[in-house]
Amino acid sequence: MDPILQLKNLEPLTHGRSRLVFEHPDDPDLLVKVIRPEVVDDRFGNNTKWYKKRRRFGKFISYIREIQEFLAVRETQDHDAHFLQRIVGFARTDMGLGLVMEAVRWTDGSLAPNLATLINTDRLDDTANKALDQFLDEILNSNVIISDMNLGNIVYTFSENRGHYFVLIDGIGNNSLLPFKAISQRINRRSKLGRFKYLRMRMERCRAKNQKK
Ligand SMILES: Nc1ncnc2c1ncn2[C@@H]1O[C@H](COP(=O)(O)OP(=O)(O)OP(=O)(O)O)[C@@H](O)[C@H]1O
Ligand SMILES: [Mg+2]
Repeated sequence: MDPILQLKNLEPLTHGRSRLVFEHPDDPDLLVKVIRPEVVDDRFGNNTKWYKKRRRFGKFISYIREIQEFLAVRETQDHDAHFLQRIVGFARTDMGLGLVMEAVRWTDGSLAPNLATLINTDRLDDTANKALDQFLDEILNSNVIISDMNLGNIVYTFSENRGHYFVLIDGIGNNSLLPFKAISQRINRRSKLGRFKYLRMRMERCRAKNQKK
């Protein structure tokens, strides 16, 4: 039996600009992400431009990019990459088709803090900074294509055998029309170095804002 998950009456654990993040009602190790209803209306409703509506996948285009990228990385190795969130599959929900992911958790069982939370709570210490350098190195040396490295898309966790490490939980896949990054590893690397620079700038801005408080 594959029941439709009832999420509407649950409180999401958190959200991003485009999705609500729920704990899976049957399994706390998993999260279910659904597209925010207001985002669907705004970007894909009746008033949106015809060329957007004509795209075959419509609001699911972000799912396609994410899954495609997850598979491209998985194809290069016979185990899941620890720096990338594991996609488990789809779930039918009362808020539309949801994407099911493995939850990354902190040692106390709460949801793993993202980079913005780490900075805002003064927890980006030497260990975390070293883990971040290593994480960016692994991303650079993998075939993954990055579309959006905002501070909310990177979370921090700990495990006995790996120690402290970061996981990319969103913002993967090619969002440009031309597939240069998929074809050329050199172009992809150059693009990622640009994203890292931008990430460091975002971190600086977040730090400065936090110090003003
Ligand atoms: N697998 C995960 N484990 C732990 N926390 C997660 C996970 N996935 C998402 N989160 C948390 O939920 C927040 C929102 O998720 P996500 O980034 O997927 O939403 P979004 O709306 O697609 O984001 P954006 O604003 O970048 O478009 C993240 O910033 C992160 O803190
Ligand atoms: Mg995000």
